[in-house]
Amino acid sequence: MSVQKVKTAVVGCGMISSIYIRNLSQMFSVIDLAAVCDMRREAAEARAKEFGIARALTIDEVAADPEIELVVNLTPAFAHYDVIKKMLLAGKHVYTEKMFTTELEKSRELVALAAEKGLFLGVAPDTVLGAGVQTARYLIDRGIIGDVTSVQVCINRNQVLNSEFFRFLRGAGGTLPYDVGVYYVGALAALLGSVTHITAFGNPAPLHEPQVAFLNEGAEPWQIPGLNTVAASLRFENGAVGSILFDGNTVGAEQHAFTVYGTRGILKVGDPDRFADDVTLILPENEPVKVPFTHGFDGKNLISAPTAFDHYGHRGIGVAELAWALRKGRPHARLSGDYGLHCQEVLQGMDIAAETGRVYAVQSRFEMKGLRPGYYSSMFGGHMRGDAEASLME
Ligand SMILES: NC(=O)c1ccc[n+]([C@@H]2O[C@H](COP(=O)([O-])OP(=O)(O)OC[C@H]3O[C@@H](n4cnc5c(N)ncnc54)[C@H](O)[C@@H]3O)[C@@H](O)[C@H]2O)c1
Repeated sequence: MSVQKVKTAVVGCGMISSIYIRNLSQMFSVIDLAAVCDMRREAAEARAKEFGIARALTIDEVAADPEIELVVNLTPAFAHYDVIKKMLLAGKHVYTEKMFTTELEKSRELVALAAEKGLFLGVAPDTVLGAGVQTARYLIDRGIIGDVTSVQVCINRNQVLNSEFFRFLRGAGGTLPYDVGVYYVGALAALLGSVTHITAFGNPAPLHEPQVAFLNEGAEPWQIPGLNTVAASLRFENGAVGSILFDGNTVGAEQHAFTVYGTRGILKVGDPDRFADDVTLILPENEPVKVPFTHGFDGKNLISAPTAFDHYGHRGIGVAELAWALRKGRPHARLSGDYGLHCQEVLQGMDIAAETGRVYAVQSRFEMKGLRPGYYSSMFGGHMRGDAEASLME
């Protein structure tokens, strides 16, 4: 089978870009990573040199290049709307890192623009296409735990202390629900489908006095804007109910939980911020068992020399899945704009419900197909790269 590779450009050559550029240039046969771009030209040139990418372009050069079909947006969230809109207007398909945009209305506008122009718009996180969440989805879809009745998720961090090191956390989108909770909401949606109603309570982050003086010399105290701790109740369209706790105002020793309850059993899904945390099945009168992964993309990158950010695993699967949809002429069935919009609306709905004390009715809906099981990414020490990629084709 011969497939014309999708000529792709990465926009934004910061911290997360090295794992994307490494994976997109080496891991997927459907992608031709033809160019990298950054508003800081030297950053793009450095990445191009590091990974042997032919061209380092400006954003206008990317938009004007007729050969580039797909743009991967790795700029900070505050820049997403402008970059995505520019590329859609230039006729490019786009895949963007989270958060989609900083405002739901802007994301809605972009989804509508992509639909109007017949372009695909994909949204991270693609950890939900990893072995952990996909194995859980496979078990749920086959009724192994019966009908899902409820779900409970929580994640904690000291987001305020983290904002000493990661300055982007001090601005919009820096709260724990938006920065990390998005992986949990993304996985909840990928496993159980659309949410219809939300109630919530929340608290803001405290005003923070800088602690690590050498990193924050002269900095005034800051407060991460928005609710940094949120407890929410959800109703899903399938009838299940759910409970979410995101606490960014506590210590950094993470005690994540992700438990799906059903009429016949219980699944512990592990941490959806990782590509393959343990999936544990609990059935009555049995010991809990760790389920073997039914899917590939376990986050272990073995295809070349490691990069500094290898722990970010298989980032880029979502880009390849979009590219296969293009080449196969099939719908963009996984991390679609509708999916990204829904996850953003659920996060925003939690804020609105907490601030108003009212039940928030979610307007958006989406559908997502599970990946085909039985394909693995570590065949022959990871050198048989086509194997897990085959699960992205249909
Ligand atoms: N760093 C992480 O741990 C991590 C993990 C998962 C997801 N993400 C997401 O990835 C994205 C990028 O994160 P990062 O940590 O690499 O950020 P970063 O600040 O390290 O890098 C962003 C880069 O984008 C460039 N840029 C900004 N605006 C631009 C524009 N308009 N046009 C071209 N280039 C522009 C900047 O010069 C910078 O090099 C964010 O959406 C973030 O939420 C980051």
